[in-house]
Amino acid sequence: MATLYNDKVIKHFTDPHNVGEMQNPDGEGTYGSPVCGDMMKISIKVENGVIVDAKFKTFGCGSAIASSSVATDMIKGKTIEEALKITNQDVLDELGGLPAIKVHCSVLADHAIRAAIYDYAQRNGKYYAGLEGFDPNADEEDRNHGCDMENR
Ligand code: FES
Repeated sequence: MATLYNDKVIKHFTDPHNVGEMQNPDGEGTYGSPVCGDMMKISIKVENGVIVDAKFKTFGCGSAIASSSVATDMIKGKTIEEALKITNQDVLDELGGLPAIKVHCSVLADHAIRAAIYDYAQRNGKYYAGLEGFDPNADEEDRNHGCDMENR
């Protein structure tokens, strides 16, 4: 049967990395869509400015799960500054692409990472250049990542 998803996406969906709850995270961020109700939580552990561990929990579709899996892999071992430079396109590239109607699902990972780093920065009184203007409590309207329930 033909599928819209490449092998890497299917692999990360069926056997995702870094799933679960983290004990005593240094930063935690949740991001959700009021449109499809999908939600992602990412927790990070930071040592000497480096993300040494990352975990996620997602109430979401396969694309959101695959995106969280690669995104948490990508930030592990990176400095906070390096992690903040990871874009949604980087996550998509790492996945080898998603069907066009699912591209927006990957935005959850990008935003949840930012929210977790924002939380870490708040807890530790730190400032990072990549967080200007970021508001984890932005209006629900602003959080619409464009999911189309007709196309889930
Ligand atoms: S994250 Fe909303 S449909 Fe995929």
